Amino acid sequence: MLSQETRDIVKATVPVLEQHGTEITSVFYAHMFEEHPELLNIFNKTNQKLGRQQTALAQTVLAAAKHIDHLEAIIPNVNQIAHKHRALEIKPEHYPIVGENLIYAIRKVLGEAATPEIINAWTEAYGVIADVFIQLEKALYDEAEWQGFKPFKVARVKEESAHVKSFIVVPVDGQALKPVKAGQYITVKVHPEGDPNDMLRHYSICHTDITKGIEFAVKRDVHGEEKGAVSNYLHDTLKEGDEILLSAPAGEFTVKATDRPLAFISGGVGMTPLMAMLHEQAVKGKDVKFIHSAYNRAEVPFKDEITAFHNQENVQFYFNYSESAGRLTKEKLEGILTGEEEIYMCGSVNFMEVMLKTLTAMGIAREQIHFEPFGPKMSITM
Ligand code: HEM
Repeated sequence: MLSQETRDIVKATVPVLEQHGTEITSVFYAHMFEEHPELLNIFNKTNQKLGRQQTALAQTVLAAAKHIDHLEAIIPNVNQIAHKHRALEIKPEHYPIVGENLIYAIRKVLGEAATPEIINAWTEAYGVIADVFIQLEKALYDEAEWQGFKPFKVARVKEESAHVKSFIVVPVDGQALKPVKAGQYITVKVHPEGDPNDMLRHYSICHTDITKGIEFAVKRDVHGEEKGAVSNYLHDTLKEGDEILLSAPAGEFTVKATDRPLAFISGGVGMTPLMAMLHEQAVKGKDVKFIHSAYNRAEVPFKDEITAFHNQENVQFYFNYSESAGRLTKEKLEGILTGEEEIYMCGSVNFMEVMLKTLTAMGIAREQIHFEPFGPKMSITM
């Protein structure tokens, strides 16, 4: 239990830390990886380079600190992060490492302004915040289908579009698989030759049908500094019969029961979890509008499945090809949506931000909109 004095110090210093947030987390990461290079086997180096993880962690710690009197308010956000942490095998023993390095960074960046009272208050507060994560993650470990990373064999590889491949994998130990929830993802662990570290990445599951195995889709990332180290590795080297390590399905981006019609909006490979949701909801007879934005037709994955839905009256597809038709605008969405729909969206952080702003401008309530970006959700500023 934190004392009133500690809470007051924490709340009073949040604005100062907000001001130096990114600087503090940059120092924090640099120092932590120097002291604990083994953690480079867990963290996504591309996210580090792009600064995405810095923003996400800083925002979360500060959001938690602001709510230090009623931490339950941040639980919906923590839950989504806890799923990712569980999928990455983050354990209670990792938390003190993050804590010590965070405090080191606060001290370093604030200099003399970091009085012993401030440092003690933040050390205590971090302990309480970390406990919220640890407890939620414990529950997720308890309910996970398996612990750790388990070997799977690739049963099928399929080209889904110009840059997307899907992989069906089956457990090497022959154990039966439990049903997955549409919208969940798996996490792969690979070690490309020549790289000093393991690399972990999350990929959405395409199908709730696991009779042939778990099916997930990977977009070859051809842009950026790192050029998608893992996606390119999987596209170029993973073939039928090969083995790959997976942690158990995770994620809480799933369709909640509702009387409203549904609308799914995806950008690029963001179509993957929504495709699984479409399979799940269409068989229940739910009305679904499926809006997909892609560069052009060659970039649209799952064409066979989309064609198979053509005879189903309750499912309507709308495609926007930005190469020829420009962006998915408010006017276009107004022509499709009634405003009554419960909306599920997936795409890049940038696409999510634009869509959130557009839907809000259309007067759609925030509670009707559910989304999962590729990349840290907390870095979305809306
Ligand atoms: C991801 C916050 C502790 C390792 C994240 C994300 C947030 C976050 C906001 C992004 C989630 C998303 O993708 O939407 C926090 C907070 C912590 C904490 C507030 C402490 C209270 C830890 C610990 C570790 C860790 C102890 C392990 C040493 C990771 C990793 C990712 C992640 C590896 C994946 C993102 C990447 O690799 O870029 N965390 N975290 N976190 N966290 Fe934590």
